[in-house]
Amino acid sequence: MKIDILSVIPELLDSPLQHSIMKRAQAKGLLDVQVHQLRKWAVNEYGQVDDYQYGGGAGMVMMPEPLANAITELSANSPYEEIIYMTPDGQRFDQSMANQLSLKKNLLIICGHYKGIDERIRQQFVTKEISVGDYVLSGGEIAAAVIVDAIGRLLPGVLNDETSALFDSFQDNLLAPPVFTRPADFRGAKVPDVLLSGDPKKIEEWRYEQSVQRTRERRPGLLEE
Ligand code: ADE
Repeated sequence: MKIDILSVIPELLDSPLQHSIMKRAQAKGLLDVQVHQLRKWAVNEYGQVDDYQYGGGAGMVMMPEPLANAITELSANSPYEEIIYMTPDGQRFDQSMANQLSLKKNLLIICGHYKGIDERIRQQFVTKEISVGDYVLSGGEIAAAVIVDAIGRLLPGVLNDETSALFDSFQDNLLAPPVFTRPADFRGAKVPDVLLSGDPKKIEEWRYEQSVQRTRERRPGLLEE
């Protein structure tokens, strides 16, 4: 899968994409993430990509020309299946959206800054608008890192144990069950006997019951979906 990202602060994406599972996904050639500096398509030699908003008011708006030129140039190399704009007024990101996006081959993600991007870019180019939650971040980069991570770990072959993403919280609308490691007795708190029983069927049943109970207690809305 190829993901292009447009940003005015590409450095913000360096660390999240260069370690751990995202590093491995790219090293294995399963994920190719290219972060492009939007100022490459600036309207002048000063690197200008934003301007005052019509109608007045505090805060700059990202200009349409640099974004349109960047999208057009990048699209010529990659026919994007989705052009995504990260924005707090977008559709709320969740596991099912991550699953759907993980099936795509080519994505473009636009990171906004300041007051956001000119509305005409949203109307003419953007095919999907995504929010990572009901709060406002300083820019779209950290939100983009969130969705690239959630998508990237789902690509076949990225995780060591191929099945493990299937048992993540939210797959099947259930939270994950509790997990334990050694020692079996930690300061008097014991690991549930069933996990030491060696009986795979009983263990599977226990984990499912725990998942349902945890979901009922913490996120009852998921069970209704
Ligand atoms: N940019 C700023 N805040 C955001 C959010 N909550 N989700 C996605 N992009 C954003």
